[in-house]
Amino acid sequence: MPELEQFAAPGSEWWRSAVIYQIYPRSFADASGDGIGDLPGITARLDSLSELGVDAIWLSPFMTSPQRDAGYDVADYRDVDPLFGTLADFDDMLAQAHARGIRVIVDLVPNHSSDQHAWFQAALAAGPGSPERARYIFRDGRGENGELPPNNWQSVFGGGMWECVTEADGTPGQWYLHIFDATQPDFDWTNEEVREEFRSILRFWLDRGVDGFRVDVAHGMVKKEGLPDYTPPADADSMGGGEDDVPYWGQDGVHDIYRDWHKVLAAYDGDRALCGEAWMPTLHQTAMWVRPDEMHQTFNFPYLLTPWDAEALRAVIRESLDEFGAVGAPSTWVLSNHDVVRHASRLALTADNPQGEGIGPNSPGKPDPVVGLARGRAATTVMLALPGSAYLYQGEELGLPEAMEIPDEFRQDPTWFRTNGERYGRDGCRVPLPWTAEGPAYGFNDTGASWLPQPAEWAEYARDVEETADDSTLALYKLLLRLRREHGLGTGALVWEDLGADAVAFRRGDLHVAANLGSAPLALPEGAHFVVQSARFEGAALPVNAAAWYTLP
Ligand code: NOJ
Repeated sequence: MPELEQFAAPGSEWWRSAVIYQIYPRSFADASGDGIGDLPGITARLDSLSELGVDAIWLSPFMTSPQRDAGYDVADYRDVDPLFGTLADFDDMLAQAHARGIRVIVDLVPNHSSDQHAWFQAALAAGPGSPERARYIFRDGRGENGELPPNNWQSVFGGGMWECVTEADGTPGQWYLHIFDATQPDFDWTNEEVREEFRSILRFWLDRGVDGFRVDVAHGMVKKEGLPDYTPPADADSMGGGEDDVPYWGQDGVHDIYRDWHKVLAAYDGDRALCGEAWMPTLHQTAMWVRPDEMHQTFNFPYLLTPWDAEALRAVIRESLDEFGAVGAPSTWVLSNHDVVRHASRLALTADNPQGEGIGPNSPGKPDPVVGLARGRAATTVMLALPGSAYLYQGEELGLPEAMEIPDEFRQDPTWFRTNGERYGRDGCRVPLPWTAEGPAYGFNDTGASWLPQPAEWAEYARDVEETADDSTLALYKLLLRLRREHGLGTGALVWEDLGADAVAFRRGDLHVAANLGSAPLALPEGAHFVVQSARFEGAALPVNAAAWYTLP
C-alpha cells in the first residue's frame, strides 16, 4: 500500500532544502602551486559550482593550524592558515560566493584545539591545578607514581586517549585527554571560560558574514562524569555510531551547548545555521540534535552507512523522515565526505570496512569499479529526489572512486601512524581533484605538485572531459540538481510505491523515482517517460544498479 510521509516544513529557511557542497580546501584547487589547495583556488573555481547548481558550500577547516590532522587541529580560531591564504582571501571568497547566490558554511572544531594553541601552551606552562589547565581535561595518572593513564579509553585514531606531560621541573606529570591525536587536546566544556570563548568565535565568523557552521565532533564535547573505563567492540566505527552509552559520545550535556549557540545565531539575520557532525547509533538519537531550539541540521550518518540493500535503504529513508519530521527538522542526506570511503567505491565493497579504516593496497574485498560507479550514480539519483537537505562531497560529481593504491610513504592520516599501518585511514578520499585531463596535477595547479599522489587513471574523470560528455557523472549531477530545483523536491511529501522487494520506489508529486538494487532488470510501469536515467538504457526495464526519475501518462 502506498503511504504518505509528510515532510515538516514550518518555514522557508534556506537550509531546509539546500544542496550543500563540501569543499576540502587542501584538495579542491591550488592557486599558489605549492601542492595544497587554498582559498584563492576556491574563489577562482566558484563558477564551476554555480554551473553545478549547488545552494551552498561547506569548507573544511582553513584556520591557523600545524596540520597534524589536516586542519582539524586549530591553533588560532580567528585567522587563516598561510597555507590557505589570508583573512582578506576569505572575505573575498565569501563575497564572491554570495554574489553568485552561494551560501558559505565554515567548519568549527570545538571539541579540541591544537597543542600549539596559546591556551594549551599556557596550560603546559602553568602546571597542575591552574585555571589554564582547567580549560582542558588534565588528570593525575593512576598507579603508584601516576605512571598509568587515568582510564582505559582508546583514541579514535588508535593508541591511548591520554598523553603524559613533562612538568616544568622535568618530572613526568599529569595526563591530558585527546579523543583524536595527541596533538589535539580536548577542551573541558564544563568550564564557562571555554563556553564564552566559543560564543565569541561564533560571532567572529558570523560578523564576517558566514551563513553557518558545520560543528566537528558535535557528539564528543561532554564526557561522562567520573570518566569511567570503556572498551568499544573490535569492529566499531572510528567515530562511534554503533554503540550505545559510550562515556565520550552523545552525553546529554552536549545539548545545552547547542541551545546556547542557537541563541547566538538567532541574534543574526539571514537564517544562519548549525549542522552537527554527530555519529549516533539510531536516527532517533540523531534527531535529538535538531530539536527546535538546538542545531538546524545534523548529518544523517545512519543513511550514509546503509549498505546497497533495498530493504535497508527503504527503512532508513522511512525512519529518517519520521524521526526528523517528529522534531520539525528537515532530514539531511549524505553519501560521502572526507572521513569515509567514497561512495562510488564503498557501495561495491565485498568485505567489511568500518568507517575510518580506509582502503589500501592490501585491503580485502575491493570493489569492482564498474559496479561501484553504477551504484554510486544510482544512489545519488535516489538521494537528490528526497525531501530535505543534501550534502555532496567534492569530486563525487565526477564519479571519483576512492584512491586505493596510495603508496605508504605518501600517507598523511594520523590514523595510519597511530595504528602502525594497521588502518589505512582516510587519505584515499582526500586526493586533489582532477580539473583537466592534460596538464600538471590534472589542472589542480600549474606546477604539478600534489600533497597526495593522484592516480594515473584519473584523467578520464577530469572535469573538462566530463563537461563535454552527455552521459558523464557531471552531466548527471547537473541534471539532477536542475530538476530537483525545478520540481521543488527539497520540500514536500514523499509517497511510497511498491515495485517489489528489490526496488526503492516513491513518488514526489508527479515525478516517480525508482532504483533497482536487485540482480535482475526491474519492470517499470507501462508508458514511463524518463527524465533522468542514472545509466543510459532503452525500454522500460530498469537495469541492475540503476535508478531513474520518470513521469507516467
Ligand atoms: C571529524 C572530522 O571530520 C575528521 O576529519 C577529524 O579527523 C576529526 N573530527 C577530529 O577533528
